[in-house]
Amino acid sequence: MSNPLYREIVQDIRTLVEATAHPRRRTIRLSPEVAAKLEALSSAGSAAAAADTHSEPAEVPAASTPAPDPGSPSDSGAREAALDALEKMVAMCTKCELCHGRTQTVFADGDPTARIVFVGEAPGADEDRQGVPFVGRAGQLLTDIITKGMGLQREEVYICNVIKCRPPNNRDPKPAEIEQCEPYLVEQLRLIQPEVICALGAHAARTLLRTNVAVGKLRDQWHEYCGIPLRVTYHPSYLLRNPADKRKTWEDIQVIMEYLGIPIPQGKGS
Ligand code: URA
Ligand code: URA
Repeated sequence: MSNPLYREIVQDIRTLVEATAHPRRRTIRLSPEVAAKLEALSSAGSAAAAADTHSEPAEVPAASTPAPDPGSPSDSGAREAALDALEKMVAMCTKCELCHGRTQTVFADGDPTARIVFVGEAPGADEDRQGVPFVGRAGQLLTDIITKGMGLQREEVYICNVIKCRPPNNRDPKPAEIEQCEPYLVEQLRLIQPEVICALGAHAARTLLRTNVAVGKLRDQWHEYCGIPLRVTYHPSYLLRNPADKRKTWEDIQVIMEYLGIPIPQGKGS
């Protein structure tokens, strides 16, 4: 380990593993910086390795470095504390005009250690009244998708929105409102580090993927948000208006179930 490049790489990989480790995540992704260093190593490293008298496998712990266990009480406690603090910050937010019309902010519902996060658009009247996302008619459909479709409890997943305050008369959120509110969503996803994100509808997809491509074109393929695999499907409100497309959402959900290793019930396959 006399080669400084090796030391730097090992340190980078340790940092990376600690930053991305999740007990149920199957893969980690290399940052461009680390990838570049590994590339440099593969061209310059063999000479350095030959000059090093220690045996390399024992000296380059890389992925075998003990990672913190986010499932341990202290760590999941820290995550919940951070989310609680964020929720309080959101509750006091006055960054955009939506704060004037809200009954309360709508932060999230579900398990902060969830394997999957559903991201919707913005609270409606029911959500504004109850302070919980997806509790109205569209919420019932999402709950059915989770419970009857995926065979999970609603409490097992994490549900949130791009926008934390109800837009008046359920109008679309304005770009400036999304811009002000998005950092809260970014932080939620950073803290939770789910294995997969499901973007519900155009606003979630546009915000997370920075695109204007239609939902119908974005679904049916894997995307990525900060290293987290992401699928796009139709928004439950859209499905209430266009029930024929429920079949497509069920296909999207089955892809996610397959990815997570959740068994698809017999007779329910597409
Ligand atoms: N629609 C959304 O996008 N989010 C909710 O919380 C409710 C309805
Ligand atoms: N447009 C939307 O806003 N949402 C959908 O789910 C589909 C089309």
